[in-house]
Amino acid sequence: MAHFDEKAKPFSHQWLNERLAIDTVKKVMSSEYWIPKDINFLWAMGMILAATFGILIISGIFLLMYYQPDTAKAFDSVNYTIMTEVGYGWLWRHIHGVGASLVFLIIYIHMFTGIYYGSYKRGREMIWLSGMLLFVLFSAEAFSGYMLPWGQMSYWAGMVITNLFGGFTPDLAGGALNFPGFVEWIRGDYVPAQAFLSRFFMLHVFLLPLAIIGVIVLHFATLRIPHVNNQEGAEIDFEESAKLYKEGKKKESKVIPFSPVFLSKDVFVMGVYFILFFYLVFFHFDFAMDPVNFDPADGLKTPAHIYPEWYFLWSYEVLRPFSYNIGLVAFAFAQVAFFLLPFLDKSPVVAPANRRGLFNIWFWVLLVDMIVLSVMGKLPPEGAWNVIGLVAALTFIGLFITLPFITKNEKKA
Ligand code: HEM
Repeated sequence: MAHFDEKAKPFSHQWLNERLAIDTVKKVMSSEYWIPKDINFLWAMGMILAATFGILIISGIFLLMYYQPDTAKAFDSVNYTIMTEVGYGWLWRHIHGVGASLVFLIIYIHMFTGIYYGSYKRGREMIWLSGMLLFVLFSAEAFSGYMLPWGQMSYWAGMVITNLFGGFTPDLAGGALNFPGFVEWIRGDYVPAQAFLSRFFMLHVFLLPLAIIGVIVLHFATLRIPHVNNQEGAEIDFEESAKLYKEGKKKESKVIPFSPVFLSKDVFVMGVYFILFFYLVFFHFDFAMDPVNFDPADGLKTPAHIYPEWYFLWSYEVLRPFSYNIGLVAFAFAQVAFFLLPFLDKSPVVAPANRRGLFNIWFWVLLVDMIVLSVMGKLPPEGAWNVIGLVAALTFIGLFITLPFITKNEKKA
């Protein structure tokens, strides 16, 4: 039986500690959660992501007060009511739009930092897998949000993406994957219409944010035991370093506590980030909004070029240069490739890519290839663009197939 001091004042430190073990929680989660000293500003991206997600939730709540999930009213509720009638409605919309775009930029930086430093290996596999789950959930969140203003791009992107689910024609897998009426089941209609908007609205404002919050908690939990990696990939004796830190030998120790030391550095990087964030919100919000989506949805008028937002362009371009069925398989491959990274990289070496020979080349080719894919994804699929797109898509697939062979015989750095 736990000991409770009857004389302790309700809600005093002692009273709360006896009931919630707040001292232990504080130790485990902040003051004795040790972070390596040898890290740079790229390790602030995780907290920047958490902060941006917070801003998306707050701005989203304000937008939700006036948004109407009705195909006849949605477009005007966003472009007229929120943008012109509601005080500062435009500001919340710009914050939400810019936040949705920037969150992907930071996710990609965060992912590529992890790849560069090999932070998905040596006990950190679950960090990577939960991170990838967050990537998928954020992608679904962004896609469902894009449907809500019910503009031309909302409608037609919705049409194109849901059509993908009807792509498993009988000649693929001997018909085993052929579900007649599957696309209509997803849409709740023959074309994107009210049922479609209602369910994407529910996903965007309820189910997906809830799942994201749960997976963020999981992502943080997966970090606690293996601890974050460091610039050299060094294996740190955390207990010994923590002891030195607590004895006041901070210089000799290789670690700092999560709070307040690591967090205060994060807050500094966050400050710089938010200067950029609000500069974009006030002066360049248009980069996060497609002009075509300022025309109301029209099922009888297909836009000349249908393309997704910039953060989906690379995976869209892995699909586009191929014939329909092969394209679908390539697209599915692109979606799972990054999940498999900890298992495709066969080298036990945890070190920055520049000390990993062939892997260094692999890393930079991947980065450049994804930029090329993104540029091609935006251009119309004609002539030379088509050829470059095809080569870049094949390179992407080839990179993931060759990774185990490249890393198998890697020498210790
Ligand atoms: C979108 C929401 C996300 C949030 C809020 C988030 C948050 C964090 C935080 C706070 C850290 C610790 C500090 C740092 O290294 O930045 C971290 C580390 C990490 N995250 Fe994420 N993350 C997210 C998405 C992702 C994604 C998409 C991936 C890629 C698969 C990923 C993979 C990792 C890895 C590998 C680490 C360990 C870094 C290391 O050990 O050095 N995270 N994350």
